[in-house]
Order: sequence, then structure tokens, then C-alpha cells
Amino acid sequence: MRLRDTTQVGLAGFLLLSGCSDNPAGGGAGTGTSQATTGSASPGTGSTSPGSGNGGTGTNPSGSGISTSGDTGSGSSGTVVGGSGSSGSVVGGSGSSGAGSGVPGSGAASGSSGMVGGGTVNWPSAACQQKTATLLASMSRMQKAQQMVMLQDTFSGVPGAVFSGGGAGPGYPNPTGPRDPASWATFTDGFFAKAKAAQPPIPILYGLDIVHGNNAVNSAVIMPHNTGLGATGDLALVQQVYNVAAQEALAVGINWTFGPFSGVVWDYRWGRVYESFGGDPVAVGKMVQAAVIGLQGPGGLGSGTAGVGGAVACSKHWAGDGQAGPPSGKGGVVDRGNVTVSVQDMMKWGANPYVPAIQSGLGCVMVSDATWNNAQMTESKQLLTTILKGPPPAGLGFKGFVITNWDAGNTSTAVAAGVDMFMHPGSEANSINTIANLPAGMDSRIDDAVTRILNVKCQAGLSTFQRGDPATVGSAAHRAIGRKAVAESMVVLQNTGNVLPLAKTANVFVTGSGANNLNNQMGGWTITWQGSGNQVQGATTIQAAISKVKPVAGSMAAADVVVVVLSEGPYAEFQGDKTSIDQLPAGDFAALAQAKAAGKKVVAIVMSGRPVLLHALTQADAWIAAWLPGSEGDGVADVLFGDVHPVGKLPHHWPATDGQSTWGGAAVPGAYTPMFKIGDGLTW
Ligand code: BGC
Repeated sequence: MRLRDTTQVGLAGFLLLSGCSDNPAGGGAGTGTSQATTGSASPGTGSTSPGSGNGGTGTNPSGSGISTSGDTGSGSSGTVVGGSGSSGSVVGGSGSSGAGSGVPGSGAASGSSGMVGGGTVNWPSAACQQKTATLLASMSRMQKAQQMVMLQDTFSGVPGAVFSGGGAGPGYPNPTGPRDPASWATFTDGFFAKAKAAQPPIPILYGLDIVHGNNAVNSAVIMPHNTGLGATGDLALVQQVYNVAAQEALAVGINWTFGPFSGVVWDYRWGRVYESFGGDPVAVGKMVQAAVIGLQGPGGLGSGTAGVGGAVACSKHWAGDGQAGPPSGKGGVVDRGNVTVSVQDMMKWGANPYVPAIQSGLGCVMVSDATWNNAQMTESKQLLTTILKGPPPAGLGFKGFVITNWDAGNTSTAVAAGVDMFMHPGSEANSINTIANLPAGMDSRIDDAVTRILNVKCQAGLSTFQRGDPATVGSAAHRAIGRKAVAESMVVLQNTGNVLPLAKTANVFVTGSGANNLNNQMGGWTITWQGSGNQVQGATTIQAAISKVKPVAGSMAAADVVVVVLSEGPYAEFQGDKTSIDQLPAGDFAALAQAKAAGKKVVAIVMSGRPVLLHALTQADAWIAAWLPGSEGDGVADVLFGDVHPVGKLPHHWPATDGQSTWGGAAVPGAYTPMFKIGDGLTW
């Protein structure tokens, strides 16, 4: 279980849409490092080209492209539903070659990608359909219900699917229980054995929030969070990063990933900004597709990691994730708030990012626990059955299965709406019984749900009940991919006087709250729900990485260059919502001032899960947005010392003031004038 202490259209098509709980979601934010339940209630790039900003002497990398045509849903190149354009990622369309999202200046995910796969995948196979039909015909209503409710890792019933929430795993309820690969493998083996011994022996899904590498295992390669990957704009690399995540998950028996995250962020106060690839829905859609191919395989489910079947990706949170406004449904600021948009805007910003991944055979979608125009998405037939699963041109034709988020949705209503599997920790037995006792009129809906689940299990090759080898977790080859991702995710925002790259002979003093702090370097969803990067073994801090190039200076006085790593602490979802994005510690700004006053060259590295207020850019010569890089700090040093040329471009806007922390898809330039825009970033 997650240790959590919360209570916790077709080308020219047009979607015609209209828009109580037995497990009421608890209110109020929890405070712990883990999710507990028991005992508590639980690019197209438009017409732009990514600018290079060459030279980097200014304070504003204005070399980045700015779309002149881009605005919400307008123009000839937007990702639109119901539009008449001949381009764009469209519901039911076969092409994902949208020419533009309408978001200005995004350089992410454009051009030829080097990605493997990407074509339309046809599934399930005839053999799987046959196998599923035979199995279904032999199952009782109770057995079907058991397939439709995932169990926490502490629940002892017959598992159809099991999951560990953030912070959970071997040794529960001790949140610092063993988190090494061997202990994880032994732990999941127990559930596999139970399923194998059941009659009939149906393979299980073992789910976990694999959001930046196998972040539940203490020797895994912790990858940059998605916002850093979005900055790379490198689809082939994102595919590799997610493939490493899949391999390191499958190695310990985790075969189902609650990700990739598909949200497009409008509000930087949200505690999930870092989980998002960016603010451009077309670029995000391509990133999500690359991630899904990395997780599942280039030919869809079961075409991934040889010998183990492959992982099943569960993209989240359908739909409109990132576009919600206050109040938060969870006691935060915007988390699980209300998305107040038209159908067209919901499609453009909230649904179309799923289209390329669905074409690539996405196996599972997690429905959002937020509301759309005040209606629960978990209980929305329109959103689940008509739009997501419905046939083109009215729907996306999704063939996989839909799960709920944590404790979301009234079971009966949600089944009728199109939910196929429930995450109802603490009340699994109730939900199973509810489904088992639904009236006969629900037979075909239940059969549809179970058919979808069984098809995924078959297509993914889970019937071998195999896992990978725990000894492969954290391999040198995997770390090299992480390091590359870190280097490519660095976004140079300012480089006055070409202070970067640093000479390898320079005396560098490294300070700031993030210099030697793995918790801050990895952020939330690392070992624990809210983030405990300091438990990760084999990781390299930024200071350690710089020291490998040349031992760091012992004092500021002895240095030519002062590197200050300014950082936010770790957080996750609603607990990480903030009313202000002024989140960098005063002490870090004081270090900048001290270094400037001492006449040093000053490099500011900002390690944050969201764009945060930098205040005056004159406080440092160079500014780098380093996001949440994860375990491979060497990638930061690679850029600092010029071994890798910076290629990162901002995937999100970077506000100058708190008043700019929400942008709502506004055009730039225009009424919204952040300090830096999506697509900005210097190189040399
Ligand atoms: C989060 C989901 C996550 C789930 C399972 C929820 O609280 O919102 O993103 O997948 O927990 O851990």
C-alpha cells in the first residue's frame, strides 16, 4: 500500500458532449512522507523554431522562437478538436503530425525524433482475444469483480491487481523498511505466487508510481522528473529513460506503471508541475508517446523488454490535468480542483496529449480525481465512454482499461460511466462486493471491463508470471542514460559575460541548499511519497559531481567562481501546492549576494519542481534551471564544464511575479509576459 496519511474528433469531427461515493475522498492534506490508508479514511512547434539564443550574453534568451500565430485553438495549426484544419493531432485521426499547438515558442519534441516506433499499433491480437473470451466465459461474477479492484500490497484477498502507493513496499508499515531490489523482488514474488496458485491462475498487474525511474527502489537510477525531460525536447532520449524505468521496475516484479503523466500545466502553484512534460499540449503528447513506447515497447504491449513480457503503462490523469483552478479537492490550492473549460479546450489541452500514446497501444489510463465544470470526471460517462473509449470520429478509440485514482468515485456510478478498475485502498472488499452484486443489467459493462483488463494482461505477456533480475537495477549503462538526460535537461537562462562554460582549472566553491542535498535533488515520489532522495544509493550530488572534475575550493575566498545551488524542498501532489511560487530560501539568495560582494563570478543553479521566483537576475552572472535532476548529478557538471553543450529549452513559462503563476493557455507575447517563455534557453 502507499503509506499515506491522508484522509484523504476526427479530422473534421466534432464531439458532442454533455458533461456520493461509497468511498468518499477525504478532505484535508496529510503531512507525512507516505500515503497511509488503513486506519484513516483513508510540436508541432507552430510556426516557430526553437531558438538557440546563441552567445548567451544577455539576460534574456530572446533567441527562442515565438510563434506569431499561436493562440488558444486558433490559426491553422492548432491541436484542435472540431476544427476544420488539415493539421494537428486530432481525435480519431491517424496522424500525430500536428503542426502546432498554438503555444508560443515551444521547441520541445520537434523535428525528427530518432525514436523507435511511433506507428499505429493494432491490438489485442486475435490469440489474446480468444484467450480472454474463453477465460471470461469461465468466470463467476465474483471472480470478475476481483479483477476490477486493485488490492493494496497489504491486502490478503485473491489479487487481480496489486499496488503499492508512494512510500509503501517491503516491510510495511515501516516506511523505512527495506527498499533494496532483492527485498522488493521477494515482496512482489509473494503476490505472483498467490495469483498463480489461484483457480484459474490469472496473471496479476503490480502497479506503482514509476514516475522518474523505479523511484521505489533505493539503488535504482532516479531519472529527472518529467519537467526536465520536457526541457530536453529529445524524444529518443525520453524513450530510453522510460525504458530504463521499465527494466528496473520489471526487475523487481513491478509490471504496471502509474504514468506517464500527461498533464499540461496552467498553474505553477500546483504540487505536480514537475510531473508534467510542459505547457504545450502537442509537445507533451509526443513526450507521453515516447515514454509509453519506452515502457511498453515499440510494437505496443508485450513488445518491450525481452523475456519478461513488458510493462503496462497507465497514463494519468485523464483529462484536463493541469488546467484545474481552485479550490483544491484535497485541501491544497489547485490539486484536484475544477477544470472550467469548453469541450473544445478540454480536447485541445486535456485530451489530445493522449492521442499519440493511444495510437502506440497505451494499455491503461488513470482517470482524474478532479471535476470538469463541476462534474466528477471519475463518474463521467461522457469523458470515459464517449470521448476516451468511443469509436472515432467521436472518440479516441482507447482499447485499454481505465482505473480510478486513490479512493475516487462511487463504485456503481463509476462502473456505469466506464471505469474498469478501482483504486479504493481500505475498502477493497466493499468495492468488490458492490461489483459482485450489481444488477444483471450491468453484465455487459462488467464483461467489457474484464475483457479489457484480461486483454492487456495477455497482450503484455504477463501470463509467464516472470520478472527480471534485481541485480540489473542501477547498472552503469542505465546511469549513463540518466546522466545524458540530466545534461540535456539543463536550461541556461542567462550567461552574462560568457561565464559559462567553466574552465576545468577554475577554483570553484559550491554552496547553497541544493549543493549536497539528495532530497532536494530528486524531489517527491522518491522512495517515499513526499520524497526521501537521501535514501537513494549510488547517487551523485551536484557538489560531488563538480569535485570529480576538480576538487572544489574550501572557501569562497579561495574561489574564482562561486556556484550556488538554490533549491526547493521535496513535495508531492496536494501537499506540494503553494499559494506563492516564491519558494527559494533566503539563505540561497544571501549566498549569491555574498559571492557578488566578494567580486566572484557567480553561477546560480536553480533546482526546483516548478518555475520559482528568481527576483533580480543581476544577482548572478549565469542562471541555469536544473529542475529535479535525480541521482545523476554528473550531468549538471557536464554542462557546467562544457563537455555537453546546453540544449534545454523551457517546457514551462517562467514567471517574474506571483501574479504570473497562472497563465491559462494565454498567448505570449500578449497579456501574459513572464520572465522567460516556453522555448527559451541559451546555448553556446
Ligand atoms: C496520486 C496518483 C497516484 C496514486 C497511487 C494518488 O494520490 O494522485 O497520481 O498514481 O495516488 O499512488
